[in-house]
Amino acid sequence: MKGIILAGGSATRLYPLSKAISKQIMPVYDKPMIYYPLSTLMLAGIREVLVISTPRDLPMFEELLGDGSRIGMKLSYKVQEVPNGLAQAFVLGKDFLNGEPGCLILGDNMFYGQHFGRMLKEAVATVESGKSKEESGGAVIFGYEVADPRAYGVVEFKEVTGYGLQVIGLEEKPAEPKSNYAVPGLYFYDETVCEKAANLQPSARGEYEITDLNKLYLAEGTLRVKLFSRGFAWLDTGNCDSLLEAGNFIATIQNRQGFYVSCIEEIAWRNGWISTEQLALLGKEMKTAYGRYLERLAAKGR
Ligand code: G1P
Repeated sequence: MKGIILAGGSATRLYPLSKAISKQIMPVYDKPMIYYPLSTLMLAGIREVLVISTPRDLPMFEELLGDGSRIGMKLSYKVQEVPNGLAQAFVLGKDFLNGEPGCLILGDNMFYGQHFGRMLKEAVATVESGKSKEESGGAVIFGYEVADPRAYGVVEFKEVTGYGLQVIGLEEKPAEPKSNYAVPGLYFYDETVCEKAANLQPSARGEYEITDLNKLYLAEGTLRVKLFSRGFAWLDTGNCDSLLEAGNFIATIQNRQGFYVSCIEEIAWRNGWISTEQLALLGKEMKTAYGRYLERLAAKGR
């Protein structure tokens, strides 16, 4: 499976912070924000990733991450000229996906919790299973209970047997939400996704909505939702307070346990995409606590 990170938008809620640089390049404690969604894709076992951003910001992501070979990945880049909606990722990413299933993650969505890697791999297996059978693999989205879901896509669902819960309704930023389950910016789709995205119409706010794309899977009866439980963290970075809180959260976990969160070099190494020697070299290049962490891991061995 391939992955797409959408790191566009103008992040006006972070002005003046985001006036001159991309929000998704800003620090969340000790690493650029985009490391977090990139690490999510890596935990799903995804090695080929397309980064989509604005004409202004894309070169900075390229400078930061390069072609991905340093961490055993293949990264490519595509400009989104106009920020006209998340579903556009599958119009811009059509050649990249080349008729295969794809995962989309938003560049500002951060996740942390136990068994996350396993959940991601199950989602990949589910949407890919359609390839071998007659029926479509459909889509897998996630639900996360929040106190106030009005700023998000909101999902209503019911219990069914099999993988995931059956979705019965989806709404984008409803004034009166029908549940407290927000839909995080992490979506797994089968190989029909580009075709579906190409047929969407812009919403009232003029955007190609990801919720409308999900509704097409809902209409087909192939949209499943998996819930993140209590104790799982889906962090928001939309305004200055939530950005600071996210940084403090990462610092708290890292400093207490000594394990780094969303350390892309470590995940690449644990995935077997780079050798212990390569990991040690990457560590040596950075004269920081981050670099020393990589060197320590390499010295300890797998
Ligand atoms: C977007 C989606 C929304 C989703 C959210 C997750 O909202 O439209 O459905 O719940 O991302 O971060 P936006 O960030 O565009 O307000």
